[in-house]
Amino acid sequence: MDFNEKFTEYSGYFNKVLTEFCDNLTCKPQILAESMRYSLLLGGKRLRPVLMLAVGDLLGVDRDKLKNFALALELIHTYSLVHDDLPEMDNDDFRRGKPSNHKVFGTGNAVLAGDGLLNTAYSVLIKECRNGAEYVSASEFICDYAGVYGMIGGQSADLLHEGDGNYSEETLNFIYENKTAKLLTAAVVVPDIIGGGKHFSQLKTFGSDLGYLFQLTDDILDVEGSFASLGKSTGKDEKAGKYTAVSLYGLEACKLRADVCAERCRTIVEGINGDGEFLINFVNYVRNRKN
Ligand code: IPE
Ligand code: IPE
Ligand code: MG
Ligand code: MG
Ligand code: MG
Repeated sequence: MDFNEKFTEYSGYFNKVLTEFCDNLTCKPQILAESMRYSLLLGGKRLRPVLMLAVGDLLGVDRDKLKNFALALELIHTYSLVHDDLPEMDNDDFRRGKPSNHKVFGTGNAVLAGDGLLNTAYSVLIKECRNGAEYVSASEFICDYAGVYGMIGGQSADLLHEGDGNYSEETLNFIYENKTAKLLTAAVVVPDIIGGGKHFSQLKTFGSDLGYLFQLTDDILDVEGSFASLGKSTGKDEKAGKYTAVSLYGLEACKLRADVCAERCRTIVEGINGDGEFLINFVNYVRNRKN
């Protein structure tokens, strides 16, 4: 199977899990379920679930054991996007090629849809804890990395430093590490925790480097990408005075940094026993992505 076929196989498996979850989502008032479903089923590349399943395969961890962790992580990721797009945050009218959640349902409902996605993710994780100590550890890892010492902290720093124009590498690294790399790190570390934790520090570093690479390419694409392939508005970071690597280093230096970062990711995968071909191609895809 080539990379695209394998990617489609992983995302197809996950989309079935997600569709089943969405079909069973019946809350009152109906608009709550509708708005949660809207953002979940808009599309989205499903990178975090795909990564989780792929690392599971590398380590020999059955996907049945991972599917609810992948679901919880995608719920959390989607909530982060719904809130990220709000007028009081990045004020983005489009997401995944369609109007953002608040453009369809209004700001109040979008806040609640995000809250609902996050809260439901925690319910899913708490239920997983019944399966044993390693499931508790994996759930704890996701909670920590999504929370105030993770993604939420990064989003807070992103907002705080918007427009301050006084860039420092330390602040940029904090924002990248937390708002983006932490959820990607959770995706690659959870299968290792479930599988016995043999490659914990290697995969933690891999997630951090891959997250940095991913946000680098997100920021590069905000300058060079198109709405047609990204499904979200471009050119907004500069206008909003966002703290990005492009504003700190310039576009060309960012591309060199991305190359170095991708090389570091590949080296880590090569150091883990097993078939790492898909993950190496995944790194190459992130480096060269257009969407
Ligand atoms: C977008 O993430 C938010 C960032 C962390 C830059 P993705 O590019 O993975 O978003 P979807 O899930 O494909 O929409
Ligand atoms: C978002 O970073 C990271 C999140 C935690 C949502 P961005 O604000 O750059 O993501 P996009 O460009 O809106 O997808
Ligand atoms: Mg943002
Ligand atoms: Mg944004
Ligand atoms: Mg962006």
